[in-house]
Amino acid sequence: MQYGYFDDERREYVITDPRTPTKWINYVGTLAFGGFVDHTGGALICKGDPALNRITKYIQQMPASDFKGTTLYLRLKEGDGYRVFSPYFVPTLDPFDFYQCHVGLGYTRIASAFYGIRSEVTIFVPPDGSCLLRDIRITNGGDEAVEVDAIPVVEYTHPQALTQLTNADWVPQTMQSDAYRGEDERVILAQYAFMHKEKRVNFFTSNRPVSSFEADRRRFLGANEYGSWARPLALQAPELSDTEARRGDNIGALMHHLGEIGPGESARLITMLGQAESIEAARPTIERYSDESKVDAALAELGAFWDEYLSAVQVETPDRALNSMLNVHNPRQCHTTKNWSRYLSYYQLGLGARGIGFRDSSQDTLGVMTHMPGEARDLIHTLLRVQKRDGSAMHQFNPMSMEANEGDSREREEGPHFYSDDHLWAILAACAYLKETGDLAFLDETIPYYDKDRDGEPIEEGSALDHLLRGIEFTRRTVGAHGLPSLGYADWNDTVNLYEGAESLFTANLYGRALLELIALFNHTGDAASADRLRGYYEGMREAVNEHCWDGAWYIRYFDPEGKPLGSKQNAAGQVFTNGQSWPVLSGFATGERARRALDAVYEHLNTAKGIKLSTPGYNGYDLAVGGISSYPPGAKENGGIFLHTNPWVVIAEAMMGNGSRAYEYYSQINPAAKNDLIDEYELEPYVYPQNILGDEHPLFGLARNSWLSGTAAWMYQAGIEWILGVQARYDGLLIDPCIPAGWDGFSVRRRFRGATYAIEVRNPKHVEKGVAAVSVDGSRIEGSVIPVFAEGGTHRVEVVMG
Ligand code: GLC
Repeated sequence: MQYGYFDDERREYVITDPRTPTKWINYVGTLAFGGFVDHTGGALICKGDPALNRITKYIQQMPASDFKGTTLYLRLKEGDGYRVFSPYFVPTLDPFDFYQCHVGLGYTRIASAFYGIRSEVTIFVPPDGSCLLRDIRITNGGDEAVEVDAIPVVEYTHPQALTQLTNADWVPQTMQSDAYRGEDERVILAQYAFMHKEKRVNFFTSNRPVSSFEADRRRFLGANEYGSWARPLALQAPELSDTEARRGDNIGALMHHLGEIGPGESARLITMLGQAESIEAARPTIERYSDESKVDAALAELGAFWDEYLSAVQVETPDRALNSMLNVHNPRQCHTTKNWSRYLSYYQLGLGARGIGFRDSSQDTLGVMTHMPGEARDLIHTLLRVQKRDGSAMHQFNPMSMEANEGDSREREEGPHFYSDDHLWAILAACAYLKETGDLAFLDETIPYYDKDRDGEPIEEGSALDHLLRGIEFTRRTVGAHGLPSLGYADWNDTVNLYEGAESLFTANLYGRALLELIALFNHTGDAASADRLRGYYEGMREAVNEHCWDGAWYIRYFDPEGKPLGSKQNAAGQVFTNGQSWPVLSGFATGERARRALDAVYEHLNTAKGIKLSTPGYNGYDLAVGGISSYPPGAKENGGIFLHTNPWVVIAEAMMGNGSRAYEYYSQINPAAKNDLIDEYELEPYVYPQNILGDEHPLFGLARNSWLSGTAAWMYQAGIEWILGVQARYDGLLIDPCIPAGWDGFSVRRRFRGATYAIEVRNPKHVEKGVAAVSVDGSRIEGSVIPVFAEGGTHRVEVVMG
């Protein structure tokens, strides 16, 4: 069963059946103003923090057929009453003659036909971020003229999203709406929580005359809400009640009589939903987008933004699904994770104080480095502000208040309260930024540490480089009995929470990788003393890892406080962990035969045709001594599930080892496009990576969840571009070192780098998987495979012959 297809030319995925197994969503706008739109027209919209300033009431857990946040009703006169239906299918669920939802870059377009009426609604936030626009076009597809009414509806939430769900007295007592009627018979509905009346109001309006409106949900649904969203009783009367809600569940509904539409003729209606200090302050936005040509221009401008963004890297390979992912959907998802961190999705409800994760956002920057290095840099700067003087990092923070906390570790009172990996990810992020841009001045920027004095002022500040080095020193001195980094509350795997005294092999390797990055940096800046010192640290950790962590056929993953291993053949559950094998290769601690055997253990014990599992076998029963992992049934999430974020690390490790066919096999098996024919099992959007797929120990093996906001996006992008296609930023130029399936004749990449464009053609006449025999730039042979930086810019032809 398929629910849609890829339209690569328009850079869209087109859903052709609204009854997808879960809602499939698309992002509009940014965290400053925006949210997501689902494929049946529902929308969750916020301005700033989704927990504190939410506009529409969108409750993910309610059934798919439910009204969620927004909809549009159309109605036709029929007998004494009206035939009322939604062109979005939900919430009226009428039989449709035609339905398509075009999931585009920053917009969603729903096209449908019901009862002879064709509709096309384009939903987007214009680049100025001022409101959510719906550009609605209604066409009479029949042979006779018809009168059509259009009633767009919004349901509001209290801005404090969690309070909306926990208090059913205070919230409705504070919710109010006012109507502003203009001379041209247009209506602006203002909605606010009473305490915010003077400083922020939601506005909902349109560009056409409104004959009546409704702001009270009870009146709209009718019969004390024994009318429903599927059949609102108010829509059986000619007009709405013009009620300005003084309390209760506030909505905005605007009655538009579009008048008689002749056969083949169309009417256009534009709605705007936004938030401003006051209605007066909203008027310029409302005026602007009441003009159809301004709406057209905003959509074109949005398209131009994405043209520019995606043009940073474009590839052409023999694999269409890979091209479509690397050219459009994957970089788009990277933009989304960079923007939204783990705040808000169909799965991340954005109700609490989680905010931005230090580890997650550090990794998210790696996926946008080529496309928007400046914004990545700003985010890295922000992250370093929540690093502590001791070098460790606060686990998560709210980017608006810059208030940080220690994440879930607070749940275990006795501690430890640090995560052993967080601070090290920032080193990878910062070095990627430096290699991409050459902007070494960043290292000298002064950034405060998070620790505050009594007045809330930072106690100390240091250069960006000082921050990175303190991260290294923290890990160097925070080690356990085997000389491996102390686990803290957890490492990358949030759910293995061993008692104090445990050690992490993952963090040992991340430390190794971070050291390699800094050594390369110091070699570039000519600081031989620092490079030597860090090389000493590196060698020390390499020894500890290889002396204590080799289990005979693979690497173990942790030591518990008693020095017993986890991820060992000695264990009944959790015998072998994927990250225990990929990361020793990424750190360079495992080489040669050991590296090969570790990666073969992944293929043998952890790989499935649907992706690589995180560990196996799963824990079967809750066990406080291992923590959160054992709260899941075997095969789910971190407990033996296919946790996709870790798959690209294996792709990268295989590429480092020169195994192009294996790297490509792992890459392709989780390409969401490859799931398009398996949706009834897989269930999620085939145009983005999800976080997890149930593993083979679970009866629902293959079922995916938690789409969009996952570190999988940034790492699959790097795995594809930097390791399979092999195009990597270096301090002194662009390295080309592909690792591809032997069957490929070649491929091409067009990439921007430090102001120049590199048009790279790779040929593979001998059908090898790795190895570069000859490189020429603008027709002249060069030594090695690092293409120089072109200070003068321009486009440069790079020809690479593998062999
Ligand atoms: C989630 C978290 C991420 C963590 C991963 C594994 O994706 O956002 O920080 O590394 O789970 O536990």
